Amino acid sequence: MSKRKTALITGVTGQDGSYLAEFLLSKGYDVHGCIRRSSTDYRERIDHIEGNPDFHLHYADLSDSVSLVKLIGEVKPDEIYNLAAQSHVQVSFDVPEYTANVDALGVLRILEAVRLCGLADTCRIYQASTSELFGRVEEVPQRETTPFHPYSPYAVAKQYGYWIIREYRDAYHMFCCNGILFNHESERRGETFVTRKITLAASRIKYGLQEKLYLGNLSSRRDWGYAKDYIECMWLILQSDEPDDYVIATGEQHTVREFALLAFHDVGIELEFTGEGPDEKGIDKATGRTLIEVSPDFYRPTDVVNLLGDPTKAKAKLGWNPQKTSFEELVKIMADSDLRKAEAEARTRDLRQ
Ligand code: NAP
Ligand code: GDD
Repeated sequence: MSKRKTALITGVTGQDGSYLAEFLLSKGYDVHGCIRRSSTDYRERIDHIEGNPDFHLHYADLSDSVSLVKLIGEVKPDEIYNLAAQSHVQVSFDVPEYTANVDALGVLRILEAVRLCGLADTCRIYQASTSELFGRVEEVPQRETTPFHPYSPYAVAKQYGYWIIREYRDAYHMFCCNGILFNHESERRGETFVTRKITLAASRIKYGLQEKLYLGNLSSRRDWGYAKDYIECMWLILQSDEPDDYVIATGEQHTVREFALLAFHDVGIELEFTGEGPDEKGIDKATGRTLIEVSPDFYRPTDVVNLLGDPTKAKAKLGWNPQKTSFEELVKIMADSDLRKAEAEARTRDLRQ
C-alpha cells in the first residue's frame, strides 16, 4: 500500500486554499495549513473543515523565514502549495514593498526552508503564478511561451516568484512548478475583486440594501474561470512525471461590463449601459434608475486590460478540462449565493424594523 501523502498549503484561509484543502482531504491527504495571527479568530472559508482530524493549522508567515523553516521541518510535507500572497493588484500600488516581501521573497523563503530541512529531493512545490505576468500583453491569447510584461508591483513581485521556482528546478533539480493561473472566481472570492463586488452589489441592490455600485474600468477583459475547477489543476501539476509550468485558463474572454450585465440579469434586473469612459452608467431598464457609475477611485495607475489564456498544454499534458463550468454558470453560481446572503440580511433588517 502506498504511503499516505502530507500536504502543506500556505494561504489556506484564502479562496483557493480553502477549496484545495477540501479537495486534498477528499483524496485522503493529511493536510496542513499555514495561518496568520489576526484579531478575529473566525476563519469563514475553512470554518467547516476545522475539527477534521486530518486537517491541521499552524501559525507562520511568508515574511518570516524562521517560522517557515520550523513549520516545514515539523510537517515534512510531500507537497507544498504556495498560495499565500498579498493578492490584490490595486492594493499592491499602495503597499509595494510589503507585496514584494511576501509575493517575491516569500517564495524564496519556502524554497530555502525546504532545502534547509533536507527535503529538496522529496518535496514537490507548486507556486501560484499568475496571468498578471503577461500584463501589458505582447500576444493574444497568452500561452507558456508568451513573453512576460508585468504591469503592477504585484506582477513584478510574482515575476520573481516565477523565476526563482524555475531557478531552483534547474540548479538543485527540485520538483518545482508554476501554475500560471488566469482569473478564477467563486462564491468564496474576496469581496473587493471585481466579480464578487458586482454579484454582491447586484444582490444587495435587489433587496434594497444598497443604492448603487461604483466601478473602475468597465472595458477591461478577463478570462474568468471557476476556482473549484482550477484547484484540481494545481494538484494535477504536482502529480506529473516531470516538473513543468502551465497556463491554466478557459480560453474565453469577457469584459467587466458583460459580467455586470449577466450578474444583474441573474438577480432579476435588466441593465443597459449608456455613455462612455468616466460618464458611462448602468441603468435599470425597468425603472430608469442609475445603478452603476464609474469612479476614478477604482482606476489603476497601470491596468492590465486584455487577458485571454490558451490552455492547450494543460489540456494535452494534464488531461484537464478548461470549460467544465461555463462563464454563464460561474456568474449564476456567484449571483445565486450572494442573493441568498442578501435575502437573509434583508430578513434580519425587516425583523428589526
Ligand atoms: P486570497 O483569497 O487573497 O488568499 C490569499 C491567502 O494568502 C490568504 O489565506 C492570506 O491569509 C494569505 N496570506 C497573505 N499574506 C500572507 C503572509 N504574509 N503570510 C502567510 N499567508 C499570507 O487569494 P486567492 O484568490 O485564493 O489566490 C491564491 C493565490 O493564487 C495567490 O497567491 C494569488 O496571488 C494567486 N492567484 C490568484 C488568482 C485568482 O484569480 N484568484 C489568479 C492567479 C494567481 P489571510 O486570510 O490571513 O489574509
Ligand atoms: N477590483 C476591482 N474593483 N477591479 C475593477 C473594478 C473595481 O471596482 N472596476 C473595474 N475593475 C477592473 C480592474 O481594473 C481589472 O482590470 C479587472 O477589473 C479585474 O480586477 P480584479 O477583479 O481586482 O482582479 P485582477 O485581474 O486585477 O487580479 C486578480 O486576478 C489575477 C490573475 O490575473 C487577482 O486574483 C490576482 O491575485 C490574480 O493574480
